Amino acid sequence: MSLLIRGGEIVTPDARYKAEIYVEDQTVTRIGTDLSVPPGTEIIDATNQWIFPGFIDPHVHIYLPFMATFAKDTHETASVAALIGGTTTFIEMCCPSRGEDALAGYNLWKEKAEGRSACDYAFHMTVSRFDQNTEAQLREIVRDGTTSFKIFLSYKNFFGVDDGEMYQTLTLAKELGVIVAAHCENAELVGRLQQALLAEGKTGPEWHEPSRPESVEAEGTARFATFLENTGAVGYVVHLSCVPALKAAVDAKGRGVRLSIESVLPHLLLDKTSAERAGVEGMQYVMSPPLRDRRNQPALWSALASGLIDTVGTDHCPFDKEQKLLGRDAFTQIPNGMPGIEERVSLMYTYGVNRGLMDVHRFVDALSTRPAKLFGLFPRKGTIAVGSDADLVIFDPTYRGVISARTQHINSDYSGFEGFAMEGRPAVVTVRGKIQVRDGNFVGERGRGQLLRREPVINWRSN
Ligand code: URP
Ligand code: ZN
Ligand code: ZN
Repeated sequence: MSLLIRGGEIVTPDARYKAEIYVEDQTVTRIGTDLSVPPGTEIIDATNQWIFPGFIDPHVHIYLPFMATFAKDTHETASVAALIGGTTTFIEMCCPSRGEDALAGYNLWKEKAEGRSACDYAFHMTVSRFDQNTEAQLREIVRDGTTSFKIFLSYKNFFGVDDGEMYQTLTLAKELGVIVAAHCENAELVGRLQQALLAEGKTGPEWHEPSRPESVEAEGTARFATFLENTGAVGYVVHLSCVPALKAAVDAKGRGVRLSIESVLPHLLLDKTSAERAGVEGMQYVMSPPLRDRRNQPALWSALASGLIDTVGTDHCPFDKEQKLLGRDAFTQIPNGMPGIEERVSLMYTYGVNRGLMDVHRFVDALSTRPAKLFGLFPRKGTIAVGSDADLVIFDPTYRGVISARTQHINSDYSGFEGFAMEGRPAVVTVRGKIQVRDGNFVGERGRGQLLRREPVINWRSN
């Protein structure tokens, strides 16, 4: 299987140039001009198109038992949607609940994905309790190539850990050279505020945001950073949504805490007024941390453009309307989460690059290269270079379309981005040299995706 892509303009975080890319089997083997290729080589004309490294979504939920139900996608549906959207690798949160053993959960998540994903994938291993068995199990999981942990400071009694468990997780992570991702909200305050609002008869989705105010996220972020500072571990704040949390994280970075920051598509493009709509219309937009006041967005975009916010993920976590209605009597019962895996690349290109909020290099960095570097996938993934996996996105910037639930490939009956413009889309997408998407349609092999085994992040790169 060999492939020549010619006529396009390659973009990485540091460079932008016209060149041909030759792919043999699964790997980029030559980059140059006027390359001679053997007969039988498939030739793709990428004239007037960008060639980006395959995009990496560092934060998705696919198999997820959560809030009395299960997230809606399967690895089949989510991976096809990911590829159509230009994401060639995702990192799924493996989330056993507090009552389950880490290793049993890890094996279950691997089993769910095995042979079913059309794109490559890896896991962040959630530590949802730390008891006498946990340490040995986590060591085994890291030996198996899953070299990032996840902790929740929220969702008390389900995924959440207390401060002691956070300390133990970070201490072990430091020893193993493993990065720890954290959902940062103060669980105690969320619980108390939820109960107070319900007691006042405030039950609709519009009360979700007031039950998890910005200060609650800022406290979680500052506490996580303080624990990193005092254990020497390396951390990653997921789905940071607001200015006070950003200040806490940037302050920590400034004093040398080894911390990276992720924002996610909904917090960059949507705001809390969506969740204030009546009934199920509002419930569709319930996620945590909640959609915020729009005044937060200029600061998030500016931190993203400068690289202070490192990555953009999706926190893809789809539920359908019937599932959202589990919360018809109380906002605390609405399954938390929104889809986004299919739209991230086109929407960030449209509303980031095309609107002048970030340049195309930072776009590639935040959505591909930096996730690859932070999570031990670089230079196999996250760049276009000789020797790297041939995960390529040939992106047509002239395409014009509109996001709609009617045309999406994920397994949900709504899109949080209904009606948003797409100014550009992935036209051709390859995974390790195989064409999986052509003209925006999935044409590939459904079980092609591999579990990516990773080395621990030994060398910390400060930004
Ligand atoms: O509301 C959200 N974000 N749902 C998914 C679980 C999580 O907190 O990431
Ligand atoms: Zn979360
Ligand atoms: Zn999440």
